[in-house]
Amino acid sequence: MTSHFRSIAEAGTERVRRLLDLTDHMAAVGRRPNPKVPALRGKTVCNLFFEDSTRTRMSFDLAAKRLSADTMTLAVSSSSVNKGESLRDTIETLDAMGVDAFVVRHRTSGVPWQVANWSPAAVVNAGDGWHAHPTQALLDAYTIRQRRGLTNDFTGLKIAIVGDIRHSRVARSTTEILLMLGAEVIHVAPRTLLPPTSHVPTTADLDEVIDEVDVLYMLRMQRERMGAGIVPDGGEYSRRFALDERRASALRGDALLMHPGPINRGVEMMVDPTELSQSTILDQVTNGIAARMAVLFDLLGSGEIEE
Ligand code: NCD
Repeated sequence: MTSHFRSIAEAGTERVRRLLDLTDHMAAVGRRPNPKVPALRGKTVCNLFFEDSTRTRMSFDLAAKRLSADTMTLAVSSSSVNKGESLRDTIETLDAMGVDAFVVRHRTSGVPWQVANWSPAAVVNAGDGWHAHPTQALLDAYTIRQRRGLTNDFTGLKIAIVGDIRHSRVARSTTEILLMLGAEVIHVAPRTLLPPTSHVPTTADLDEVIDEVDVLYMLRMQRERMGAGIVPDGGEYSRRFALDERRASALRGDALLMHPGPINRGVEMMVDPTELSQSTILDQVTNGIAARMAVLFDLLGSGEIEE
């Protein structure tokens, strides 16, 4: 049976821990003068992004190249999808060219599971609708582990995820992995931006928690997923939930400030995070390559990473 990487829950604790260790190894490869290894020579990775993306798409592409795989990227905006080709026909056509792994991003939840029904290739979920974004979760957990000098036990860490939890596949997957590793997670959002049911504590008062958290994880306001009227106009949201100067100075010196990007400056972020020593935002981007190398190697590699 082909194995996939489609959600944190599906991967399970043991695999997640193995992937974090493998990410650590790939991060070390990335720091070498020549950051490329021959591990996936002869394998073909196909990136299928049906939704906008900068960092995730580039990061998967570079990860595959650093493992010496061949890569193909379908630019959906200039493909036959616009001539009415169905997703199934697209997958079967690409599959006939000899693809070993599909990396799929789609606005509809569940598409990575459908793709696996139509092709024997491994499927990696690069974000499906509101549902899951498991490689983001992996890179987030790895970034915390790296900055905090931890192994895979996050017991005692308190992490607040702030903002548009309801529409966020990042919040869902990252919460899942953090709980799996033993961290305490709290969701901070106005009621309209929380999911109908929640299995972690919630609050609408950011100021109540900001000075006690080990990690402050800010989310982007996902207006493209909202109907009108879910949140009041920008100003009111920002006043209560954005990171401004006052809140930035309430953050502990050893806390971490995270964001998956893209940042909406002036909405959830009123300060320049690059000026804050707590910010890990660019580490997250760098670690994203290592995390995706780990996932691709875990699915397609056989044996050794090096020659
Ligand atoms: C996220 C996504 O697309 O789910 N971005 C990302 O992958 N870096 C978060 C977002 O778009 O807000």
